[in-house]
Amino acid sequence: MAKRVLVSGGAGFIGSHVTVELMAAGYEVVVADNMSNCDLTCFEGVKKITGKDDIPFVKMDFCDADAVNRLFSQYKIDAVIHFAAYKAVGESVAEPVMYYKNNLESFLNVIEAAKTHGGCNVLFSSSATVYGEPDELPVTEKSPRQPATSPYGNTKQMCEDILRDSVKAYAKYGNEVNAGAECNGPIKGIALRYFNPIGAHPSALIGELPRGVPNNLVPFITQTAIGKRECLSIFGNDYPTPDGTCQRDYIDIVDLAKAHVYAVRRMLDGKMEEDYEIFNVGTGRPVSVLELVNAFEKVNGVKLNYKFAPRRAGDVTAIWADPTLANEKLGWKAERSVEETLAAAWAWEKHLAGKE
Ligand code: UD1
Repeated sequence: MAKRVLVSGGAGFIGSHVTVELMAAGYEVVVADNMSNCDLTCFEGVKKITGKDDIPFVKMDFCDADAVNRLFSQYKIDAVIHFAAYKAVGESVAEPVMYYKNNLESFLNVIEAAKTHGGCNVLFSSSATVYGEPDELPVTEKSPRQPATSPYGNTKQMCEDILRDSVKAYAKYGNEVNAGAECNGPIKGIALRYFNPIGAHPSALIGELPRGVPNNLVPFITQTAIGKRECLSIFGNDYPTPDGTCQRDYIDIVDLAKAHVYAVRRMLDGKMEEDYEIFNVGTGRPVSVLELVNAFEKVNGVKLNYKFAPRRAGDVTAIWADPTLANEKLGWKAERSVEETLAAAWAWEKHLAGKE
């Protein structure tokens, strides 16, 4: 019997790519989403890519504990990948209560259901934001976490801690460690710390759908190139980096999605060495904003209207991953070049504009 994976927030940008890769690897998938930050575009795209019209889909809010329980009663879930969360850094500064309430409550409900229904592994989508402005580059999983600079970043740190503590209590279910705990089976957990996910599926049927003015770099680039935005502002060209612009580790969305399949397999095949494990998901390759803009222009043959603007508050100068642990323990490696990824991002923008 194929193992079943629940993808919370599965109709969104990352969740839809992960659904495709899980299904390609032979897993049964249940997609659940409250559709608060997306429409059905990506879920429809997933059906086309996989050729499966009957993927179970549940419209629900993970902050609703009863609904989460019902879902776990309806389906035997072997692993859950939790994406259902708010993700805009600036908005989280303006609306911290909304962010803490949504991101923590939904995750707590998932963990509670996992322990009540038993035998469910939990994969949490964390972020490189937990490293803050690192003292040493590249960052390994052992690099210290820095105090979060936004409520969004704080929810990532807090959810990592919630998972770590829950696993500590419930992974050894039946032992004296958690005698008396109400739990019907062990929970193990993995946190994946994403660097900067960009791009789109090569089919151009799924990709990022930012609402309003994009905060992230690549959607802003593609929207500028297509004429939706007048001009890209490059935030800061006086950073202590080779060309003065910030450096990041841009990871292709399909590569990132595949990392989830390796992590799920590690959990479900009983290959974990610790009950709670953390992996960086990045390429190990620093790319500056200017390098990314130049690569976009070159690979897609378009001219981008951009200007230098003041630094953006809260941005770190440079961060990129040491992905050795994921390479060695998960057997996963980022494969796609920045050029391929930027070509896919452009194809997706054109698809959205109905031009291709
Ligand atoms: C942010 C979040 C990160 C999250 C990621 C999602 C923080 C500090 N960062 O990363 O947690 O996982 O989004 O993709 O929490 N830039 C411009 N012009 C623009 C937009 C961006 O120059 O219009 C620059 C930024 O200054 C930065 C780089 O592009 O140097 C990347 O920015 P962005 O795509 O927003 O990602 P991060 O801020 O790195």
